[in-house]
Amino acid sequence: MKKVKICLSGLGNVGRHFVSLLIERRGLLQSKYGLDIELFAVSCSDGGIVSSSPLDLETVYSHSRQQSWTSSFPGQGKDDLEGWQIIEKSQADVLIEATPTDLKSGEPGMTNLKTAIEKGMDIVTLTKGALVKDFSGLMELSKAKGIVIKFSGATAAALPTIDMADFCLAGSTVKSIKGILNGTTNFILTKMTQEGIDYETALKEAQELGIAEPKPDLDVQGWDTAAKIIILSNAIYGAALSMDDIPVSGIDKIDSQMLEKAFSEGKKVKLIGESRLNESNDKHGQGQMHVSVAPTPIEADHVLAAVDGTTKAIHFETDTLGDLTVIGGKSNPRAAAAAALKDLVNITREGR
Ligand SMILES: NC(=O)c1ccc[n+]([C@@H]2O[C@H](COP(=O)([O-])OP(=O)(O)OC[C@H]3O[C@@H](n4cnc5c(N)ncnc54)[C@H](OP(=O)(O)O)[C@@H]3O)[C@@H](O)[C@H]2O)c1
Repeated sequence: MKKVKICLSGLGNVGRHFVSLLIERRGLLQSKYGLDIELFAVSCSDGGIVSSSPLDLETVYSHSRQQSWTSSFPGQGKDDLEGWQIIEKSQADVLIEATPTDLKSGEPGMTNLKTAIEKGMDIVTLTKGALVKDFSGLMELSKAKGIVIKFSGATAAALPTIDMADFCLAGSTVKSIKGILNGTTNFILTKMTQEGIDYETALKEAQELGIAEPKPDLDVQGWDTAAKIIILSNAIYGAALSMDDIPVSGIDKIDSQMLEKAFSEGKKVKLIGESRLNESNDKHGQGQMHVSVAPTPIEADHVLAAVDGTTKAIHFETDTLGDLTVIGGKSNPRAAAAAALKDLVNITREGR
């Protein structure tokens, strides 16, 4: 049995589901993958727990639901440390990074990732901020240290995007990527199209169903889709794009007339994150690419036009393998945690 010592930064919606999956899937991880995953440290915004022996997962899970849980954690004093200090002090081999995404500063993810890289820890990150801020810088640092960073959770989570490109499309040139990468906006657009309701009404319904956040700006203004297409473009094309480099428009200014016009032309409007190589197929990189996020009329017979509700999808156009589309995957914190677990298992299988 291979022991994998982990440190979990962020014990919110996704972090808690991750711990719960470790409990639920303990037998499968052992029998199918020969893995014993042990939690040595965990942090939230007001400190955390660092242990010299594996923490009891059931206790972490049950306590994490309580207010100020770190203070009352049994048999273990709370460490009044910053998240990065908890990583630094931990004996873990792998960081699971699940702190909030801040697309402007990239923090606290950036400092957490750099601390883990410096320590030679492999990384599974769900947090997008740091990857959007400085993807190439982080990849260079990780390469120099010989560590692996996996980020399925930051690139549409349960929908395989980066794994599809890295593994299934290896050896081909990806000429373009088109994605419906945000379930909330796709739900709102679907409601508007199918029921003829206006944006505000569809948004309200999405909020009542818990699909849209009370503060939905990150989703409806297109920033979440932009973060994902930037990370994917940087990873797949070796570009060094940041938020300032791409035009982003969301669905918050969209009116029913645009959808009706598209419908009358046999099209459906989807919020598309797109990245494509210009001109030459063999020269990759910034300057030779077009990356954008915008509500886009899609021909009714295109596979993406049929992707409705909270469903996400990604469509790759390649030179040798043809066109491929992946559709589906749940859009919720448990599925995001499951995507992080997939990355963790694959890190241990691929080795360094
Ligand atoms: N929710 C999803 O479905 C989903 C899907 C894909 C990706 N993601 C990404 O996953 C990440 C986590 O999402 P979430 O929904 O779990 O968020 P969340 O519920 O807000 O949880 C965030 C956690 O991070 C902790 N935290 C805040 N600042 C910290 C710091 N400086 N050091 C250590 N911990 C800190 C918070 O602690 P307190 O509890 O003390 O505030 C909380 O435990 C985000 O980056 C998000 O974009 C989420």
